[in-house]
Amino acid sequence: MADTLSITDNRTGKTYEIAIQDGTIRAADLRQIKVASDDFGLMSYDPAFMNTASCRSAITYLDGDAGILRYRGYPIEQLAEQSTYLEVAYLLMHGELPNTQQLGAWEHSIMTHTFVHEFLKRALEGYRYDAHPMGRLVAFLATLSTFYTDAKDVRNPEIRKQHVVRIIAKMPTIAAWAYRHSLGRPYIYPSNELSYCGNFLAMLFQIAEPKYKPHPVLERALDVLFILHADHEQNCSTSAARGVGSAESDPYVSLAAASAALYGPLHGGANEAVLRMLKKIGNVKNVPEFIASVKAGEGKLMGFGHRVYKNYDPRAKVIKKLADDVFAVTGRNPLLDIALELEKIALSDEYFIKRKLYPNVDFYSGLIYQAMGFPVEMFPVLFAIPRASGWLSQWCEMLDDNEQKISRPRQIYTGPDARDYVPMAKR
Ligand code: CMC
Repeated sequence: MADTLSITDNRTGKTYEIAIQDGTIRAADLRQIKVASDDFGLMSYDPAFMNTASCRSAITYLDGDAGILRYRGYPIEQLAEQSTYLEVAYLLMHGELPNTQQLGAWEHSIMTHTFVHEFLKRALEGYRYDAHPMGRLVAFLATLSTFYTDAKDVRNPEIRKQHVVRIIAKMPTIAAWAYRHSLGRPYIYPSNELSYCGNFLAMLFQIAEPKYKPHPVLERALDVLFILHADHEQNCSTSAARGVGSAESDPYVSLAAASAALYGPLHGGANEAVLRMLKKIGNVKNVPEFIASVKAGEGKLMGFGHRVYKNYDPRAKVIKKLADDVFAVTGRNPLLDIALELEKIALSDEYFIKRKLYPNVDFYSGLIYQAMGFPVEMFPVLFAIPRASGWLSQWCEMLDDNEQKISRPRQIYTGPDARDYVPMAKR
């Protein structure tokens, strides 16, 4: 069986043989299909990239129908059970799990780059107390680009490595300081004695304790949530990081763009939207009425549905279990009953079954974050911090891929033909 596709152009009667590799044809191969020699050639039209691979990637494997997610081949469930976020970040960046020395060196380099320039504190003062922390995260990532001008040398592997470490290291600091600023609390400097997540919790929640001790269950829960959010192949924000990075923009502004994409309620902002939705529903008895309104097209069931998963999101399964550990410490989140009822009704309802709508990663994560004391505005930030390692792995892979060029989609022009300028007096 030949791995080719025969296409007959009924406009000309000509037949073309197009190679199939990895279940894919190259869109550029369609260009040979022309009606006349000066014809541009056939293009494919795929708004929202519904069926177009934009890259080859060895980082994350996702089978949406089977509900499978693997980082560099390792099942997400095993990583969530046995790994740590920093080890996973190493895995994403380097392609292999580290040995003891490699992990130690990696953790050390991350934990010794957690401080940010004092200017950032002054920059924070320019915001209103209620400025959304995601807006600030986007801005601060771009601001960091102004401090590290050597980061522009994106083709230099050594420089690239340095800034990868800096970004992963500084994400918790800028996020925590934005949070402290919104409360009017003094900023807490990073502590290299704590773990990545322990340090983050300290910078967020330390008040007057000389030594902040994070609760081990909550610290581990946050680490697991970070593992689950670290990468998700070519989603909206990763595509933004790759797209902006393809112009050879530095990693800080590439990640600012990715964070801006993540901010949206259809993407990383969904966890915040879920919490607001659960609060609005208010009581289990209101769930059927809410489901009916969703089916009537009056809004979406936030935290449900996914472009790729047409099955239960494997991350949601891990999070649902994790919720029990967290609630055992913090007390049960009263909104959980509403979420469970929503899930129960939705999973047995024809509307959701037909459309293969299942809970996604954002459906339960917000409940855990809220129980841990995070305000809802921080939820997308908690998504962005670990996703930075995924964005950076994808950004590096894109730069090292000889087939990649500046990202530049085509269009089908639908505007007017050429026409003469009309002077103001004649309009
Ligand atoms: N509630 C109700 N109906 C839905 C939902 C939902 N959450 N999601 C999709 N549908 C319906 C949609 O209206 C459409 O129905 P119809 O065929 O009658 O027009 C059908 O299901 C297919 O949906 P779609 O909009 O074509 O699917 P998509 O792949 O373009 O959108 C999505 C994927 C995630 C944007 C969408 O499911 C959604 O908006 N979900 C709610 C927001 C959310 O939870 N986002 C987090 C995604 S997971 C974290 C991440 O990776 O970012």
